[in-house]
Amino acid sequence: MTDSITVSTDSPSLDSIAIKLAHKLALPFSPLSRQNIQLVVTMDHIEIRAPNLGNPIYIDFIQGKNAHRRQFGGGRGQPLAKAIGLKKGVTPTIIDATAGFGRDAFVLANLGCEITLLERNPFIATLLEDALFRATDNAELSDVIARMSVHNRDAINYLSSLNELNYPDVIYMDPMYPSRDKSALVKKDMRLLHELAGPDTDSEQLLTLARNIATKRVVVKRPKSAPFVGEQKPATSIESKNTRYDVYIQTINHFSV
Ligand SMILES: C[S@@+](CC[C@H](N)C(=O)[O-])C[C@H]1O[C@@H](n2cnc3c(N)ncnc32)[C@H](O)[C@@H]1O
Repeated sequence: MTDSITVSTDSPSLDSIAIKLAHKLALPFSPLSRQNIQLVVTMDHIEIRAPNLGNPIYIDFIQGKNAHRRQFGGGRGQPLAKAIGLKKGVTPTIIDATAGFGRDAFVLANLGCEITLLERNPFIATLLEDALFRATDNAELSDVIARMSVHNRDAINYLSSLNELNYPDVIYMDPMYPSRDKSALVKKDMRLLHELAGPDTDSEQLLTLARNIATKRVVVKRPKSAPFVGEQKPATSIESKNTRYDVYIQTINHFSV
């Protein structure tokens, strides 16, 4: 699937930027086409266009759903924040090991957390970097964006190379869950993510590693009825409408030896 991805632009004045991006991602630069998946540089943002996708997909932290969640998302009382352990006076540092479109990370950064986003898929990471770049100078968001940093890295590889002094309080993971429902009900951006990134077959290994590294807790987001990752039973779970957050509380003291 990712073999046929090319980089393009809808404006000749952006050719040189698109060519640079193609070079960085080791992808061909090509004219716009409806036949294959393309990363398209436009005047406003970088977007993914794909056959059968309908509207292009890009990430926007300034407007749309992310902005709506920022205003009406429920603050520190929302299930995600509770699962992470956010309380009055407690604002943990977080590594989001499976950043995806950065929605959960943006919620947590809005609530004051310093958060490192790891995304191994280079196309999704490109959209994330672009969205952060565009929001950096936004007067309302600059503080939030300054708390977010994105790395196009595999989390297992990244976490394994961390120095103990840089271990985060919390590691958050939201691995791709095999979708049982291939109908239109599955949101098209999630379908694209599935197509681009494929299933996450190493979640169990990632969870085991994360539990050795996070100093306070690991939180795993799951569909409500899904089994625990690797049958590892959490200390507790926090549920919302369709989602469950499995919380693994840390018992190892990393700095005692
Ligand atoms: C379901 S999505 C996450 C959605 C995200 N929580 C959000 O709010 O947009 C899972 C993402 O994690 C990425 N991923 C899975 N395993 C990873 C790993 N070991 N290292 C880095 N990224 C990983 C996949 O490429 C995919 O983009």
